[in-house]
Amino acid sequence: MIIIKKAGDIKNQLVALTKIGISIGFVPTMGALHTGHISLIEAAKNENELVVCSIFINPTQFNDPKDFEIYPVTIEKDIYLLEKAGCSILFLPTVDEMYPDGFKNLSYFKLGFIETILDGKYRPGHFQGVCQVVCRLLEIVLPNKLYLGQKDFQQSMVLSKIATIAYPSIQIGICPTQREPDGLAMSSRNLRLTTEERLLAVNIYLTLKYIQDTIKPGDLTNVKHGAIAALTAKGFKVDYIEICRKNNLEILENWDGNTAIVILIAAFLNSVRLIDNIVV
Ligand code: PAF
Repeated sequence: MIIIKKAGDIKNQLVALTKIGISIGFVPTMGALHTGHISLIEAAKNENELVVCSIFINPTQFNDPKDFEIYPVTIEKDIYLLEKAGCSILFLPTVDEMYPDGFKNLSYFKLGFIETILDGKYRPGHFQGVCQVVCRLLEIVLPNKLYLGQKDFQQSMVLSKIATIAYPSIQIGICPTQREPDGLAMSSRNLRLTTEERLLAVNIYLTLKYIQDTIKPGDLTNVKHGAIAALTAKGFKVDYIEICRKNNLEILENWDGNTAIVILIAAFLNSVRLIDNIVV
């Protein structure tokens, strides 16, 4: 694996490779890699001749500056895992490489409804930051296919929308959430959980499973309120538990029993915010 830090350098190399017909799979990350990220690298490797991974902790997508400051960094381990997984190029840019004009005059993305709900509502500006950085990365890497994780369901939907408009030739692959043996969704943020919090964290997944197993057509108010109360009683501060139409994330108050749905949770365990979802 080669490590490239300059946007101009990686762009030149990748343009030359694309010209001779090499297909590129791209996995953008913020590092602190785990099996979930590695499953994206593997999917990219299976479908492309070359795999590019980026590690960049993007300041513009953190609505809470404290969260940015303490985001986990495990770069030596990340490089080891990427090499082992068969990643071809690691793009490791600095903030100046990614934002050469600084943070003024950043692009604004018209995301509409999707930015007003769920994480869009609870993390104002977050999806603008995600779009800013991913569009810049796509402009530099110009892959054949972009790989994203289903754990960030709303992010995948936002990025699919934006990439389809700005880079229609880039295919998008959404890969299943990877889970710990007890069911907890793998996340870089799990590294920040204490032993006690880690044991409690699985309740997010258990709550999703409980809703999935017991949901019936009709009014969903009691299901949602019951689940919020149960998680709160376990010590979580719940941002949301919602049941949404899978294809557009419209929040449902009633379910007809046929519409494909996704159940989504975002909740804090002390200072660590965790998200997860299950498609029904
Ligand atoms: O999901 C993430 O890790 C980040 O939001 C992404 C897509 C790498 C953009 O910074």
